[in-house]
Amino acid sequence: MKQILTCASILNADMANLERVSKELEKSGVEVLHFDVMDGVFVPNISFGFPILEAVDRSTDLFLDVHLMITDPLRYIPQTIAAGADLVTFHLESQSDPYETIRAIKDGGAQAGIVLKPGTPYEAALPFMELVDVVLVMTVEPGFGGQSFMRDMLDKIRALRAYIDEKQLKVRIQVDGGINDRTAGEAVSAGAEMLVVGSYLFRQPSLSEGVQKLRAAALA
Ligand code: DX5
Ligand code: ZN
Repeated sequence: MKQILTCASILNADMANLERVSKELEKSGVEVLHFDVMDGVFVPNISFGFPILEAVDRSTDLFLDVHLMITDPLRYIPQTIAAGADLVTFHLESQSDPYETIRAIKDGGAQAGIVLKPGTPYEAALPFMELVDVVLVMTVEPGFGGQSFMRDMLDKIRALRAYIDEKQLKVRIQVDGGINDRTAGEAVSAGAEMLVVGSYLFRQPSLSEGVQKLRAAALA
């Protein structure tokens, strides 16, 4: 059976109780904790940075996936990894050189991923597909949780899936934005293997129930 990784985005979690949230996420069965860093320039919002990432890292053994929505990710790779990131993803639309940024992430000992905004065609990812562990297809405009899944991104996921399968690459496709028990199945059928889920999960009566419902929907 295909392995689907659930990546919980804590952007809309209770920030006053991050330690408790991290522990509950561990128990809920999610495989990955997704951490959204925003600088207020690359995206029109500011979230949280290294001290919070360090605090989360201290409070959980979960795999930490850090999604950098910042103008110059290369400059902050060492700090991101020192703060506990196991996977660092950055946007191809940022100002940093992608090859150098991937190299800096790998040299730091973390996994590397590239991110495509909705307006960026899948072809932009192709030169980097043999160098990265993850390609993240944004299914909303980055910056905010709670937006609706953009179904027209499914073709981009399918195109990347076909490329990865044809070349027999190990890179995983991650999707981020508007994932819930209706859209998860569509994303997985199109070829995604890592589902970032924020507001849907934190709206459920319990995180464990939410994870189970999402997993069942993803594989249905
Ligand atoms: C948006 C972030 C997402 C966000 C997803 O810019 O990258 O990770 O938290 O939230 P939902 O699941 O609510 O769309
Ligand atoms: Zn994200």
